[in-house]
Amino acid sequence: MILLKKEVDIVKVRLRNEDNEYPIIISMGLIGNIVELIKDIYSGEKIFIISDKNVNKYYGEKVEGILKKAGYKICNFIIPPGEESKNRVYLEKGYELLISNNFQRDNLILALGGGVVGDLGGFLAATYMRGLSLIHVPTSLLAQVDSSVGGKTAINHPAVKNLIGTFYHPGTVIIDPSLLSTLAERELITGMAEVIKYALITDSSLFNYLLINKDNIYNLEAEPITHIIKRSCSIKARIVEEDQKEKGIRALLNFGHTVGHSLEAVSNYKRYTHGEAVAIGMIAASRLSYEIGKLNFRDLEKIEEIIKLYSLPVKFQNGEDIGLIMERLYHDKKIINNRLRWILLEEIGKSFIETNLDESLIKQVLEGLE
Ligand SMILES: NC(=O)c1ccc[n+]([C@@H]2O[C@H](COP(=O)([O-])OP(=O)(O)OC[C@H]3O[C@@H](n4cnc5c(N)ncnc54)[C@H](O)[C@@H]3O)[C@@H](O)[C@H]2O)c1
Ligand SMILES: [Zn+2]
Repeated sequence: MILLKKEVDIVKVRLRNEDNEYPIIISMGLIGNIVELIKDIYSGEKIFIISDKNVNKYYGEKVEGILKKAGYKICNFIIPPGEESKNRVYLEKGYELLISNNFQRDNLILALGGGVVGDLGGFLAATYMRGLSLIHVPTSLLAQVDSSVGGKTAINHPAVKNLIGTFYHPGTVIIDPSLLSTLAERELITGMAEVIKYALITDSSLFNYLLINKDNIYNLEAEPITHIIKRSCSIKARIVEEDQKEKGIRALLNFGHTVGHSLEAVSNYKRYTHGEAVAIGMIAASRLSYEIGKLNFRDLEKIEEIIKLYSLPVKFQNGEDIGLIMERLYHDKKIINNRLRWILLEEIGKSFIETNLDESLIKQVLEGLE
């Protein structure tokens, strides 16, 4: 039972087939209440904080100071920022540090950072001694609306991203949108692609809200930024509750990601951020939806409008090789019986799964994005 003196938004995640429920707590300045929130699920005295150099520079001392003042013993594991740290080398370093500091099963790992820190920290927590308590404190918009919700943890294999991982849920997710004030603009924009995705697949009122609140959101005003994070977490949490292991409707979360992932891969994860690639993928999926007669033209126009409004790209930025993208598409790990599983739209806020699309139509739509 959480007793906080301040007003917070709480999204509850209830796990099916497991006697388990945990809160995602969202509020401006919530980091100041971290001790109360930790005490709610953890009675030990040692905390392993995993963070990256950027996040540590801004928030490391502050968080450590608050925790030390409350009597906790802290062990810091600070990794270099970026995707390159989400691998076996840093996993090993993490295990070594946990062992040398005598961490036990009843201790806590706190992941303070973006999706990289969350995924690596989550995997460490899931596997060290078969599972320690875990708290996520996501600090990027992408982590606050996506990666900290749903229980996926992973590291990358040199050949395949996120190949090695497991499902492992935290005890609490602490979301303080004010932490986004130090995030680079391009990272904020990339996170917005996922918010737009949630609106498109399930929530037309979120879509309309996004249409009229861009400036307030990008200015990180308390009410609008908290609102869109809460809506996003709720949507993802509801979908994940129904389908934890991605056997059915969780696939809807891949809207825009089929083309998006291929685009990221063929440009060696350099030219586009994840959100930029997903934005182009959402345009491709929306145009496919229109071409097969499901989505009307007005909705298609509105989708292109919102993606531009949030400074995300609506077409390829650099003469991509469509042949390579097509090849990559059909190597995606989510292929079932050699058929691509597309997430398409009936209208804004209503999505469905489609496995029966002609390769020639896909090629034609991709060529239209050049
Ligand atoms: N587990 C899941 O369900 C899930 C879902 C989506 C993505 N992911 C994973 O998440 C990762 C991407 O996450 P990301 O976009 O957060 O990347 P990231 O963790 O690399 O963070 C992006 C950049 O922002 C910096 N940063 C983060 N918070 C900051 C802050 N408050 N102030 C200043 N700088 C800050 C980081 O140091 C980094 O340089 C990928 O590895 C992806 O596979 C996981
Ligand atoms: Zn994504």
